[in-house]
Formats: sequence, C-alpha cells, structure tokens
Amino acid sequence: MSTQNREYPLRTEVIEEQDLEVALETIKLLNLRGKRNLLELCLFEAEIPALDVITVLDELETRGFFEAPASTKYHGCEAGDLFNHSFMVYLTLKKWTKAGIIEWGYDYSPLLIGIFHDLCKMDSYSLNSSGGGYTYNPEQFPLGHHALASLVYAQGMVKLTEEEILCIRWHMGPYEGQDSWNLYDRAIKEYNTVLWTHQADMYVSKVLGV
Ligand SMILES: [Fe+2]
Repeated sequence: MSTQNREYPLRTEVIEEQDLEVALETIKLLNLRGKRNLLELCLFEAEIPALDVITVLDELETRGFFEAPASTKYHGCEAGDLFNHSFMVYLTLKKWTKAGIIEWGYDYSPLLIGIFHDLCKMDSYSLNSSGGGYTYNPEQFPLGHHALASLVYAQGMVKLTEEEILCIRWHMGPYEGQDSWNLYDRAIKEYNTVLWTHQADMYVSKVLGV
C-alpha cells in the first residue's frame, strides 16, 4: 500500500509491540490522515486529564505538525518526519519503560514528551520553490530557544507536569553547550527520566535515522 493512501492506523497495541525499526517503517507508510488517526487513538487511550484531544489534534494539524520534516538535511528531512521522529521518541520511551528501565510519575508522560518535545520545528522549514528539499524558514515565529519554544507551544495545549517540562526542556542533553551542564545535571538528579528522554531522542535520530 502506498504512502499516499494509507489512512487506517493499526491498533495502537500492535504498533507499540513492534520492534522499533518495524514500527518506524509502519508509521512512514501513513499519510497525514493516518498519522493524525494514530495519534488520536493514542491520546484517547492515554486518558490525559484536562486534555481536549480533538482541539490538540486540530492545533497540531493547523500548524503543520503532521506534514513538516524534522530537519533540512540530516535525520528526518522528508515531509512527515517531524511526526515520525516524535512518535518514535514516544515508542522508544514506552519500550524502555515496559522493559523496566524507566519509571514515570504518570504513564502517559512518554506520549506527551515524545509528541511535544520538538514542536518548535512545526514552522522551522520551508519547502524549496523547486519542490525538492527544505530550507530554514526565515519567517519562523521568533521564540528563539529550541526546547523552550517547544514548551511554549506544548503549554498552550496541555498542562504539563514538572517532570514533563524538564524532560522537554533538556531533551538536547549536553548539546546546548558547557554553560548549561550544571542545570542539566540538576534536572537529571531531579528526574532521571530527563536523561532517558535525551537518550531516546538520540537513539531515534542517530540510530533509527529519523
Ligand atoms: Fe527530537
């Protein structure tokens, strides 16, 4: 079945139990409607307090979350890869949680962190006029800081816990530079899920390649 017409998502427990490489190939086949349908199922099943699922999905779709790439030329530079990357971060965290490696304050936190951690990329890229590839969007809403910008968007959709805020804030890990290492260390000591979120982000981008 081609990418263009696959709208029907698998049952969430099926995709969650697949090997991560297989799950990535599965979600890459989903078109915009399929990606939205899959996220809708996950959000409803998660039963997140005070989260209006349809409003959040509408906001994400309007802002281009399901169509945007995750980069211009590195991991995830195809249309739809922002969703693919974000959903794979969620699945990776979930798999490590099921394996007993990570514990969370709330079971639904990996879903929110995975989906929301890179929201700043929703308007980061513009399709080249030639139609091939992306460049940075000079008109991006000028929030500046990558992770903090994602938090601004996320907080507009759901009330995040302190743990979720720190996981999103520090998902870049030590890549922000030495000046931030002290705060990053403190965040990890507060919630070790901060460290695992960075690891999941790295695993998905560098190992799975999206
Ligand atoms: Fe990421």
